[in-house]
Amino acid sequence: MAREVRHDATGPLKVDEDDFDDEKGNIAICMCGLSSDYPFCDGTHRTTRDEKSGTVYRYEDGDRREIEEIVYKDGGE
Ligand code: FES
Repeated sequence: MAREVRHDATGPLKVDEDDFDDEKGNIAICMCGLSSDYPFCDGTHRTTRDEKSGTVYRYEDGDRREIEEIVYKDGGE
């Protein structure tokens, strides 16, 4: 599976000890790209658990659609 994710950030976010979860003692960085609290995981990745292998998805406003493919303007991958 693949997922189209759009980001507006143009630079890094520096994390520090204030970002640690008080209960778990760690920092969970979102790797699915869907968190509303990006770059921190908010649990939204659970919506990806039933994604099918070989399928490309687009998530918008809480909805998920299957798309044919991601086409890049420059033809890249
Ligand atoms: S990994 Fe993206 S919300 Fe958890």
